[in-house]
Amino acid sequence: MTDDRRLRVALLGAGSVGSQVAALLLRHGDELADRAGARLDLVGVAVRDLDAPRDTDIPRELLTTDAETLLVGSDIVIELMGGIEPARTRLLQALNAGADVVTGNKALLATHGPELFEAADQVGASVHYEAAVAGAIPIIRPLRDSLAGDRVQRILAIVNGTTNYILDRMDLEGADYADVLADAQRLGYAEADPTADVEGYDAAQKAAILASLAFHTTVPLDAVHREGITQVDAALIESARAAGYVVKLLAVCERRTDEGREAISVRVHPALVRRTHPLASVHGANNAVFVQAEAAGDLMFYGAGAGGVQTASAVLGDVVSAARRHIAGGVGVGESTRANLPLLPIGRATTRYQITLEVDDRPGVLATVAGILADGNVSIATVEQRIIPGDGTARARLVIGTHIALEQDLGDTVERLASSGVVDRVASVLRMEGD
Ligand code: NDP
Ligand code: HSE
Repeated sequence: MTDDRRLRVALLGAGSVGSQVAALLLRHGDELADRAGARLDLVGVAVRDLDAPRDTDIPRELLTTDAETLLVGSDIVIELMGGIEPARTRLLQALNAGADVVTGNKALLATHGPELFEAADQVGASVHYEAAVAGAIPIIRPLRDSLAGDRVQRILAIVNGTTNYILDRMDLEGADYADVLADAQRLGYAEADPTADVEGYDAAQKAAILASLAFHTTVPLDAVHREGITQVDAALIESARAAGYVVKLLAVCERRTDEGREAISVRVHPALVRRTHPLASVHGANNAVFVQAEAAGDLMFYGAGAGGVQTASAVLGDVVSAARRHIAGGVGVGESTRANLPLLPIGRATTRYQITLEVDDRPGVLATVAGILADGNVSIATVEQRIIPGDGTARARLVIGTHIALEQDLGDTVERLASSGVVDRVASVLRMEGD
């Protein structure tokens, strides 16, 4: 029934993900044809080097280094090259020619998404990108379609497998950051240059994409506050453990009322997560997206956030969706950005904080600290004093948990504490999320 309907599929890139997509397209042709309503003919695979080793067997005659010519006449273009150029130019070409596109390229979407969506709108085509956030985990379609009738309030997400792997091993083994990073590089979890992962750039791109979808608002990458995990050390992990928390690199996308108007806050940073929270049980390189919606309540999406064949699953789901639209006709579903909510700077974010101070253990210190917090509009929820053993002087570590405070107030207060004369050292300030 589907054999008379054929769609031309061009694949750009045959690396970790693209090679698996090619193999699955060729291996499961009959099943995919049944589901898509048309036979999906892989007409070619663009690569840089025809002779480079591949993870799967791709017929040599399909390989080409001429991506531009390959696109011509294609119904669906799958982009798995990565990077901004030439991916951006090739996708615009494909869209302008009326093809639907499928991409896993979060860097491109986070920086040039609106340009691609606009090009798709002009011709009634669509841009599919399930693989761009959290690899194999279905989260783009749930946010775009399944929750389209609800109001998302908050997303807390572990969207970078490398940093979750590092923090998880530090937590489980009490190991040092540098040792675990070196191990992660040896095992292939982390790149030789780990900056994109450990400094939070990769997670920030994914946060921008998630927040744009969840809040129907274009969220530019430079509106996402970003902090990485390079300052997280074994002592901090141990102190979190002692307080019943685990440290996770979180993408936080939040709707809140700020000075009487609805606005959104999007940020990536290490955070304390209570050990009983579902996100605390996300181990190794796995990802999870915890969504809080007004009507649906709490939802969690969990699984492999990367990996060639795992990510290929998300790509092929998009290819089938794109094929169905081609067969059914009509215009593709565009991005919904009409809410156009204002984006808050990090100073206007609100959350709870854990402040750890090293102080002399003498009368009046706690009262002075409490006074500075009160003056700064930061309300104390918990205080714990731990004696610092062994150096002969009476010194203590004060671990203060706050109620919800404004980031700007908290920052000013910590500065006043640091220069107050009663605090030897501000050992750490961590946001507490998900309570
Ligand atoms: P790879 O680096 O493994 O593969 C990139 C492929 O693109 C290679 O086959 C390369 O050719 C080809 N390529 C690069 N530049 C060009 C060019 N100018 N012209 C033609 N071909 C080109 O990337 P991945 O498969 O890991 O990732 C692909 C995309 O998927 C990225 O956007 C990534 O962010 C995203 N993604 C990846 C995940 C993963 O687990 N790897 C998870 C989720 C998303 P050649 O082989 O000849 O060098
Ligand atoms: N470097 C990413 C990670 C791969 O560690 O999760 C998927 O984007």
